[in-house]
This record gives sequence, C-alpha cells and structure tokens, in this order.
Amino acid sequence: MKDFLLELMGVVSEAFKKAGYDENLGKVTVSNRPDLCEYQCNGAMAGAKIYKKAPIAIANEVAEFLKESDAFSSVDVCPPGFINLNVSDKFLCDFVLKMSETEKYGVELAAAKKRYIIDYGGPNVAKPLHVGHLRSAVIGESIKRIIRYMGHEAIGDIHLGDWGLQMGLVIAAFKEENPDLVYFDDAFTGDYPTEAPFTVSDLEEIYPKASARSKEDAAFKDEAMACTKKLQDGVRGYRALWKHIINVSVTDLKRNYDNLNVEFDLWKGESDVHDVIPDMVQYMKDTGLAYISDGALVVDVKEETDTKEIPPCMILKSDGASLYNTTDLATIRERVREYNPDGIIYLTDKRQELYFEQVFRCARKTGLIKDDVKLVHIGFGTVNGKDGKPFKTRDGGVMRLEYLIKDINDKMYEKILTGREMDEEEAKKVSEIVALSAIKYGDLSNQASKDYIFDTERFMSFEGDTGPYLLYTVVRIKSILKKYKENGGNVDECSISESVSNASQKNLLMKISGYNEMMRGAYEDLAPHRICAYLYDLANAFNSFYHETKILSEEDENLKKNYIAILKLTLGICEDCMDCLGFEAPERM
Ligand code: ARG
Repeated sequence: MKDFLLELMGVVSEAFKKAGYDENLGKVTVSNRPDLCEYQCNGAMAGAKIYKKAPIAIANEVAEFLKESDAFSSVDVCPPGFINLNVSDKFLCDFVLKMSETEKYGVELAAAKKRYIIDYGGPNVAKPLHVGHLRSAVIGESIKRIIRYMGHEAIGDIHLGDWGLQMGLVIAAFKEENPDLVYFDDAFTGDYPTEAPFTVSDLEEIYPKASARSKEDAAFKDEAMACTKKLQDGVRGYRALWKHIINVSVTDLKRNYDNLNVEFDLWKGESDVHDVIPDMVQYMKDTGLAYISDGALVVDVKEETDTKEIPPCMILKSDGASLYNTTDLATIRERVREYNPDGIIYLTDKRQELYFEQVFRCARKTGLIKDDVKLVHIGFGTVNGKDGKPFKTRDGGVMRLEYLIKDINDKMYEKILTGREMDEEEAKKVSEIVALSAIKYGDLSNQASKDYIFDTERFMSFEGDTGPYLLYTVVRIKSILKKYKENGGNVDECSISESVSNASQKNLLMKISGYNEMMRGAYEDLAPHRICAYLYDLANAFNSFYHETKILSEEDENLKKNYIAILKLTLGICEDCMDCLGFEAPERM
C-alpha cells in the first residue's frame, strides 16, 4: 500500500495540475502547526517563483479544486500561500480499513528480495558476557527482524571471538595447573575424553587471571603465544582442548542469548577462516595492493577526500601472524563465496568505527567485495550508569549481563506479585516477559550511536516511555477484546467503518495511518528507535482514545464494532512492532 501522505499528495498534485500548475508542487507534510491543521502544502510558495504570480493567488486556485475532492474536511488558505488541510473522516477511515485488510497493515513487501548478513553479538569465548555485550545483541536482533519483516532475507551470525591469543592464554594457564593431562602429551595418539576438563565457571576464572598475568609476566606471555601457535598449527591435543573451551562456552552463551530472546542462524567464529587466510593473503599480494611496510603486510586505504588520517589496513604483522583485520577480511571473502549477500551489517561499539572503515575500504579496493554489496557498520554508544560513567557493579567491577538481567527479573517479580492476584508461577513468567521489554526497550528507544543511561527504575516503570508501559497498553487492549468475546461478540466480524466519534479517535486513526511509512523508514535507516518512538505515540493515542470513549458499554452496535476493529488493528500493529524489537506482551500483567 502507498503511504498515507503519498495518497494525500496524489490528491493535492491532481489539484495543482487541474489548476494549470506543475503537479510536483503538491507535496504534503504533517502540519508543523497542529493547532491550525493536520496537514499542509507549501507548493504555492515554490510555484510563485516559477509562475511569477502571488502565492496566495495560486493557493486559492488550487484550493478550489481541493474542495471538490472528498479527501479533506477543510481546506484553508493562509497568507502568504499556505494550504492548510484537515483530512476527511471518509478518506482516513477508507485508508485504515484497507490497512486492516492487508497482511502487514499496509507495509509493502520488497519486490526484489535482498539477502543480508547481520554480524552481531560478537562475544569472545571463555569470557562471560558483560553489560557491553547487550547492545550488539539487542540492536542486531531487532535489525535482523526488521529486515525480515520487510520481506528480505537476514542471516544472523554471532561471529565468535574464538581464535588467537585469547585462546592461547586460557590453554597456557590451564596447562600450568594440569601439565599431566593427555592434551599436552605429544606421544598420545588415542581419542581425547569427550567430557571437558573444566566448567564454564572455571573458564571464567582462568581467562581474566591469565590475561592480567600476561601483561606483567613475559615468560607466561611467551608460553601463551607458543600455545596459540600450537593451536593454530593444528597440534591435536591443543585443538581438542580448544574444542572443549568452545563447547562449554557456547552452551553457556546460548543460554544467555536465549534469555534475551536473541537467536543466531550461524555460530561461526574467527577460527572458521583460519585455513583460508594463507590463500587470502596470497590474493592480497596478487592484487599488487598489499606491500611490506616496516616488515608488516599492509594495504593503503586512505582517500583524497579524507579529512582525517586513515592509516593503512594491516594484513599480517611483521612476525607473520594474522590479526583481527585478517580474520574479518577473510570472513568477508567467505561470506561472499558462501552466501553472495547484498549487504553485510556489523554491530559493534562505535570505538571500532575507524577499524571497520579500514577493513571495508581494503575489501573494496582489493576487490574482495563488489561495489554493489553494501558494507555497513553500526557503531553504538556506551551503556552508562546514573553517574554518566560506564555502567559498573556497585563495587566498581564489570557488570555481568546475566546478573543485570537477573536483578531486573527479581525486581519485576516483586512488582508484579504485589497487588495482583497471580500465583507465583505465572508471576515469574510474566515478570520475565515484562523485564525483557524493560531492558530491550530501554536500549532500543535510544538512537544506536548515542550513549545512554541504564536507569533500572525508569526502564521498569509502567508509566512513561518504557517497555512495560507499552505492554500494559497491549494487555489492556487484549483484555477488552477478551471481554467482548466473552459477551458473545465476534472480533473477526468487526471492521473499520466510516465514522469518527471524537478527536482522540481521529488522532488514533491518524497515528495508525502512518505505520507503513514509519516501518519503511526504520528499515531504510536500520533504526529500531524509530519503531519505539512510533509505538510510544501509538500507545499514547490509544490510551487517550480509551479514556475518552466508552467501548464495551457503547449501545450502538455499529459504533461498538468499529471500536473493536480499531482495537484489533492497533493490537496487531503493536504486536508486529514489538516482534521487530524482539519482545512480546503477556496475556495479562
Ligand atoms: N569479538 C569482537 C570484540 O569483542 C567483536 C566482533 C565483531 N564482529 C566482527 N566481525 N569484527 O570486539
């Protein structure tokens, strides 16, 4: 379906044409003076220059034709030549009726289906998820869902940090404590145990200690590097131990991402491209663009138009070791080979902006990726505490994501349990659903690139611009529809009719009519926060309507059916929006 604004524009353009002017002057926007009108057209002012005529004269001529159309309930011309418009109930209701009859409420599915890979999550194995991992997961998941909603294909890849020195550090530290295990016995030729010799908590203890120690203890660092090399060279025992690290870690990661309702299609990692790196390095050399500088292999990526210094992209270190860049470039190459995507979208902290700029330029320059394949880096801001500094635990440590979620679940449970008739089991389920909306909406409602303050109390509130408020609104609609059914009504028989009882109903219908336009914008800009802003507006419009209108007690059956149809449509839109954001509403709360 066409956007509502475009529909209005069609009518106004037609009037310009009939009056003898260029139809392109008929652009319509939402009024910036809502006290005067709902929509406006400023085309007469632009026309004045072209036709050398007073804008007010043009506006008046056009207005005559507009008054003939049934799209507007009022058409007013204001000096110097504004055309102020109020849309007619009929035009608005017809549009909303059509929306209610299409599958995605007027959102048109892509004619040319595209395929995107979304690289998000990006955790490092053997390290617990912390609050810094929240945004990549939550925003990436939403972007994946938005893309799918628009009819495209989206493949989510977690891109694990599962290779390199971080693995060597864990292995070295573990080896020191357990030197006699078969993994370190070069003469061993049998099968390695299927059971891991450590738990995830062991790993979480080993890694940070090893990492800290490597910064002070040079011998230990050398040992870690030697272990890394053995692992990468494919020494059997080291590979077997590494597989255990991955398995133990991934099981735990899956549980954590499950709790966030975040789901990946691919669990690939940096290690997956290890074997193809030599070939890619050779390719880089063959392009003639990679050259040795201070011993390292690099590709220049600066461009004439740069206003800041963009250093060369390093492909190999001077000792021949590969880097984060190398794995990312090789991953691009593999993704092109395997999936031939139309775009790859990366979600990381915005501090990696320059890094991705270098990698993207290098990939394009060397022809790893064709010009028409989009490479997008969405760099997000920091999650801060109330003091405006990066979110920490009370004693100043790094906040584990798991604890953060648990804390909010617990607080929400208390809140839900007090003052409600709900057994503990239901309260637990409901509080998890509501808590997730609090966390996700609290994050997603901010423009990704901005830092934001993680304000638990505010995020959890049932009032204001929060997830729980939206859920509350949805639950309210569900409960009205349920009562309607219990009273013998059939929701499916209700459809939008041409009647508007009050201003709040009109306002709600106007908000609804903006849905497809908003959704397309959210997709084009990969911006979940747009959906959040829309949902909040829609919820407010619904709640005013609800407070000003008797719905179930309405005696006029036709009016009541119209209201029920509006409720059903509002609910459907809210649910689709929430699904794109990655959370849902309970049946009651
Ligand atoms: N593991 C990385 C980190 O912790 C993030 C990975 C992001 N994705 C990528 N393709 N580089 O910084």
